[in-house]
Amino acid sequence: MRIAVVGAGGHGRVALDCLRVRSGDDLDLAFFDDRWAEVREVDGVAVLGPVEALYAVPEWDLVFVAVGDNAARRRIAEDLVRRGRRLVTILHPHTAISPRSTIGEGTIAVDGSVVNAGALVGRCVILNTLSSVGHDCVVEDFVQIAPGVNLGGGAVIERGAFLGIGAKVVPLARIGAWSVVGAGSVVLGDLPARSFCYGTPARAVRPLTLEEVPADAV
Ligand SMILES: CC(C)(COP(=O)(O)OP(=O)(O)OC[C@H]1O[C@@H](n2cnc3c(N)ncnc32)[C@H](O)[C@@H]1OP(=O)(O)O)[C@@H](O)C(=O)NCCC(=O)NCCS
Repeated sequence: MRIAVVGAGGHGRVALDCLRVRSGDDLDLAFFDDRWAEVREVDGVAVLGPVEALYAVPEWDLVFVAVGDNAARRRIAEDLVRRGRRLVTILHPHTAISPRSTIGEGTIAVDGSVVNAGALVGRCVILNTLSSVGHDCVVEDFVQIAPGVNLGGGAVIERGAFLGIGAKVVPLARIGAWSVVGAGSVVLGDLPARSFCYGTPARAVRPLTLEEVPADAV
């Protein structure tokens, strides 16, 4: 199988590792990244060109978008799908994903991540190392759950939100779309959309600027 990975940075490297652990050496892999002139290779896999070059090579039709910035990941993934590419889902073998949960395409579950029964995880979500998604949670498209984050049962993380390392969310709390929750925060209640939040209990400190979350991130 041939898989193109978009994004040759740190997250791309993690995705590559997960793919290799999952499928051994049978995969034909390549990176595409707009910084291809500076980054020519990652862990033995070539960077073949900028993202746009992917469209000139129809054989690379399966793609994983390994871009950490949630808004950029959304933009690139939606463009790829619009232009006929299929998004790959990566589940590291050392995860515990309930068969009674749903995981959307283009999502990655890195080693040690747990998804419990009834959870709905959307498209192009990052579930990073040792994170847990409790029963019946909803994690919408383009969310990023950093290492060591724990979501209590029934929590709702709206589209594009970012939860920093070690953040904790109590059951049933809702985090608004595209908000950023700082590392180590403890979320005891709902947080508004497009806000910079942190602390224990986590509070919305200020709205995010359009530079931080572009207006087209919807
Ligand atoms: C939320 C975050 C991204 C903000 O970074 P930033 O925009 O550079 O913000 P700054 O560091 O300039 O901090 C701005 C203010 O918020 C405070 N702050 C930021 N994050 C905080 C946190 N998690 N807890 C408490 N206070 C925090 C800072 O102390 C600073 O306060 P001050 O203005 O009184 O000095 C960062 O703090 C964070 O949590 N990063 C986690 C990254 C992560 O998990 N990555 C995973 C990749 S695998």
